Amino acid sequence: MTITIAIHSFRRGTGKSTIAANMAVLLADSGMRVGLIDTSLQSPSLHMFFGRFDLGRNPTLNDYLAGRCELGMAAINISRWLNPPPVGTLFLVPASGEADKILESLRGSYHAEALSEGLGALSNDLDLDVLLVDTPAGLNEETLLTIAAADRLLLLLRPDHQDYQGTGVVIELAHRLGSPKLLLLVNEVPVSFDTGEVAMRVATGFGQPVIAALPHSEELQMIGSGGLLVRRHPNSLSTSILRQIVAELV
Ligand SMILES: Nc1ncnc2c1ncn2[C@@H]1O[C@H](COP(=O)(O)OP(=O)(O)OP(=O)(O)O)[C@@H](O)[C@H]1O
Ligand SMILES: [Mg+2]
Repeated sequence: MTITIAIHSFRRGTGKSTIAANMAVLLADSGMRVGLIDTSLQSPSLHMFFGRFDLGRNPTLNDYLAGRCELGMAAINISRWLNPPPVGTLFLVPASGEADKILESLRGSYHAEALSEGLGALSNDLDLDVLLVDTPAGLNEETLLTIAAADRLLLLLRPDHQDYQGTGVVIELAHRLGSPKLLLLVNEVPVSFDTGEVAMRVATGFGQPVIAALPHSEELQMIGSGGLLVRRHPNSLSTSILRQIVAELV
């Protein structure tokens, strides 16, 4: 059985893709068969963390949604892109960065259910232990269906009042969807703050468990989405927190 983890936030730029990419590598390092899918059709980014800025002619999630291929055909075994390679296996399903394909997805000629149906088939076809789904910020029908179909929802927020407001909305909807185990992750906590105190305040405010509070990281800022924290800084504080998150989630 595959454990499906949806990674979401109400607001943009909370660190979803960064955390999804790094968690996927840690999970593959532990020997698992891991899938990582980029469902941010309007601003795809996951492939960049693995040093690939051009996907060439590889099929993408867009091609599956347009009915041009099975979702499994868009999965790339990227284990050998990693240095060192993981003990397990990592598959990436990218979303297309090509203007025409982004426009095609905006027109939304596919059924909202196509994505969540595809996720189930992908997990079976690739015999995945874990599937991480990086979602676009905010709410749309595909994302709600993805959340409903997932086993866990990792909901990111920053310590910011706009994030608090929107996170409350997602929590309410997740409950209405009869949602999966929901865990909050507070990201980019200013280094002068006490992360334990922030985590406790957020957990009490929302009445939901907080899996971790991740401080602002100079290393992540320097990497700027062009690489993997867990490979470049395996002994950093942020990497050790990500290891704890992964151990608790799966
Ligand atoms: N803890 C952190 N410390 C410093 N920078 C961070 C941290 N987490 C994420 N970032 C940076 O924040 C930026 C946004 O991160 P990312 O793209 O992962 O967010 P996102 O939620 O996926 O955004 P979007 O909503 O646009 O998909 C990136 O430049 C990333 O390096
Ligand atoms: Mg993103």
